[in-house]
Amino acid sequence: MENNEDNYIDISFALLKRLNRPLIFDVYVKRGTKSFSKIFKKGDLLDFDRIRLYEEKGVDVFYVTEEEHSLYCIYVEKLGDVLNAKAETFKPSEAHEILKELSTHTITEIQNTLEVNDNSLNNAKNVVDGCIKRITKDPKNVVKVLKLLSNQPYQLKHAVSVSMFSVLLAIADGIESDLNIQSIGLGGFFHDIGIGQLTFDPEDMKVLTPEQRKEMWRHPELGKEMLDQVKGIKSDVIQIVLQHHEQPNGHGYPNGLRGPEIYYPAKIVAIADAFCSLISKRSYRDAFSISEAVLKLKEDAGKYDKKILETLTKLVLPNL
Ligand SMILES: [Fe+2]
Ligand SMILES: [Fe+2]
Repeated sequence: MENNEDNYIDISFALLKRLNRPLIFDVYVKRGTKSFSKIFKKGDLLDFDRIRLYEEKGVDVFYVTEEEHSLYCIYVEKLGDVLNAKAETFKPSEAHEILKELSTHTITEIQNTLEVNDNSLNNAKNVVDGCIKRITKDPKNVVKVLKLLSNQPYQLKHAVSVSMFSVLLAIADGIESDLNIQSIGLGGFFHDIGIGQLTFDPEDMKVLTPEQRKEMWRHPELGKEMLDQVKGIKSDVIQIVLQHHEQPNGHGYPNGLRGPEIYYPAKIVAIADAFCSLISKRSYRDAFSISEAVLKLKEDAGKYDKKILETLTKLVLPNL
């Protein structure tokens, strides 16, 4: 294989160090600017003395080849299952690292295949349940997970941040049932998957043409159609995805539903979505500060549920 940068994908150093059985992929380090050399091969047990030597030299990024990346992803998926079953066996930093790697893999796979299957649903549930556990330990863990994702593409960070903020908002709003909170987290995670089906990337556009706007308005239904194919998914999650751009004033899309007609959890995700998008730097504008974002949402008050907007204000600006 060509020793070309594009053929190697970085993997999590912290997660690699947890591997306690023979490797199922070769591991590389980067030498110089563009060349890579194999340091561990398939079938080897990790040599922790050598790892320590690399750490001492400041080498803390390891790579797999593009061909073997799916094997690394299987390892990450298994860690997601273990995190769900026995969260206490991981240090907080390892749990955050699993959430980063698993959400990255899951969203990337959905974007590449334009479908959600049972496996990606299981991974998404592990991400959401893992996030809920970290959030209930300490809400500030949201920032820690998002920091790890800071170099990832916008849509990926957006899926995870909307999921986590929706969970935070649902808990602050008094929703107690674990199943409802999980559905809200999953609705947040999947809310924009329909965007992958559009003929353009809205992130590249400052202004949409009228045709592009019309196409953009289809993304909730396109997302719903993708989720309709998955047997194990609850209908509440699909309703959230379908309704996350509906507005209480009836000016939302796709169905122009009015206040009480909109599914309550979809109203939670709608506010988390708008808030997360405002506080993120976009390709065409800077990020709004938290107080500017809250002010902006309040200016557009008819678009959002008043009570949930108040809950958000108290959550993110507790000193007001
Ligand atoms: Fe959306
Ligand atoms: Fe969104």
